[in-house]
Amino acid sequence: MEFHVKSGSPEKQRSACIVVGVYEPRRLSGIAEQLDQISEGYISNLLRRGDLEGKPGQMLLLHHVPNVLSERVLLVGCGKERELDERQYKQIITKTINTLNETGSMEAVCFLTELHVKGRDTYWKVRQAVETSHASLYNFDVLKSKKDEYRRPLRKLIFNVPTRRELTLGEQAVNHGNAVAAGMKLCRDVANMPPNICNPAYLASQARQMAENFDKLTVTTVGEEQMEQLGMNSYLAVGRGSDNESIMTVMNYQGNPDSSARPIVLIGKGLTFDSGGISLKPGAGMDEMKYDMGGAAGVLGAMQTLVEMDLPLNVIGILAGCENMPSGRAYRPGDILTTMSGQTVEVLNTDAEGRLVLCDALTYVERFDPELVIDTATLTGACVVALGGQASGLLANHNPLAHEILNAGEQSGDRAWRLPLWDEYQSQLDSPFADMANIGGKEAGTITAACFLSRFAKKYHWAHIDCAGTAWQSGKNKGSTGRPVPILAQFLLNRVDASSQE
Ligand code: BES
Ligand code: MN
Ligand code: ZN
Repeated sequence: MEFHVKSGSPEKQRSACIVVGVYEPRRLSGIAEQLDQISEGYISNLLRRGDLEGKPGQMLLLHHVPNVLSERVLLVGCGKERELDERQYKQIITKTINTLNETGSMEAVCFLTELHVKGRDTYWKVRQAVETSHASLYNFDVLKSKKDEYRRPLRKLIFNVPTRRELTLGEQAVNHGNAVAAGMKLCRDVANMPPNICNPAYLASQARQMAENFDKLTVTTVGEEQMEQLGMNSYLAVGRGSDNESIMTVMNYQGNPDSSARPIVLIGKGLTFDSGGISLKPGAGMDEMKYDMGGAAGVLGAMQTLVEMDLPLNVIGILAGCENMPSGRAYRPGDILTTMSGQTVEVLNTDAEGRLVLCDALTYVERFDPELVIDTATLTGACVVALGGQASGLLANHNPLAHEILNAGEQSGDRAWRLPLWDEYQSQLDSPFADMANIGGKEAGTITAACFLSRFAKKYHWAHIDCAGTAWQSGKNKGSTGRPVPILAQFLLNRVDASSQE
């Protein structure tokens, strides 16, 4: 689907459909007002007769409105003008896209980007409209033998901006929106892929495929043999019970004109299936543990957005691919592992495997002398309990970095909420036999998991995004959400603005 911006008056558009807003109760938006005047009160007449109240998401499709060049006019209920917020705006866009698809307009000019959304500018409205439209058209049907398709799908949507001066900004918003949407789509496709197909080697192949199309991106992999040489015994232990080889994929994007500029490192937990291992999970809902590579899918998606935006940054993306299975070779509760950092870990629960994979990845990336490191992981069930599906958990050893990430979350609509990483929590990881245990007891599970990781992230500024509650949805709309691509992509985008202002 294609998006464009233009600036013009509604009655002059020659399109299959023009989309304009109506507020509750029966109040015309500025644009609808213009159409009403040109059509000599056609629209206000309909409203007076009660055809549309203006409740959020209400739709009324009109044909051949007098003196209007477009074939159709879609009136969209926007609720009370003063209550139009971000969430409602996105819902209205989604409904509009669905209606356009179902009613056969293959092309439309949309004036909803001129609505007043509290605290948001044209750039934001256009970009969110683009992202929301892409997202509402997404479905994962590559493995279905029959796919249901619209007979006359929407192919081209043009967003109108109030003034010609805002066209450049609007075009930038479309480009950014498309890039983020492409990253989210890749994230969702890879995350939704079943674990018999999506294994660590599959993650690597997805990264390699991306590198084929972009010169600034190179991809290498670290397999089990090399992990052995590097002393990544903790990572190796988690994958030992699986017949699928553990593979850490290293994506290196060199976009900074200064090729020696220190890179930003993103690390994603890539457990392509987490059965729990010998500390086996209960059966109900275990299929959803195919999404335990949601962090890696998020990093892969963010790399896609990055290369499409061609940002002048050096960024390393790590997909920490691994599968946690029970078997005669699997690691056990009681095992003591020597991590790549030299620190030892007593395994008390083989289901706390993500941190064991990530800790060696965190040590591995020291070789890049990173400017900062962000890891993202579906790390703890406790995070789902604490924050649900609305916000990811954020923990960091550097306050300015934490604030940058929180901001990126607000801007992109992919929000995070910070939890403390106080030293007082560290003692929950004490072990009588090793430097630390891999679990910290039943209290503050998200924090103690981050405490564990922090012990391997002492050499750089580091933040951890726990996306266990946000990366996918359960229930009848089960599927990947494409998060945390937006927050990561926004963080990178803001980094460019910040460095060009220095
Ligand atoms: N991948 C899970 C975390 C998870 C569980 C995410 C459910 C989303 C939904 C992780 O590997 C795990 O099993 N964590 C354990 C840790 C515990 C054993 C300390 C958990 O959260 O129960
Ligand atoms: Mn687990
Ligand atoms: Zn896991």
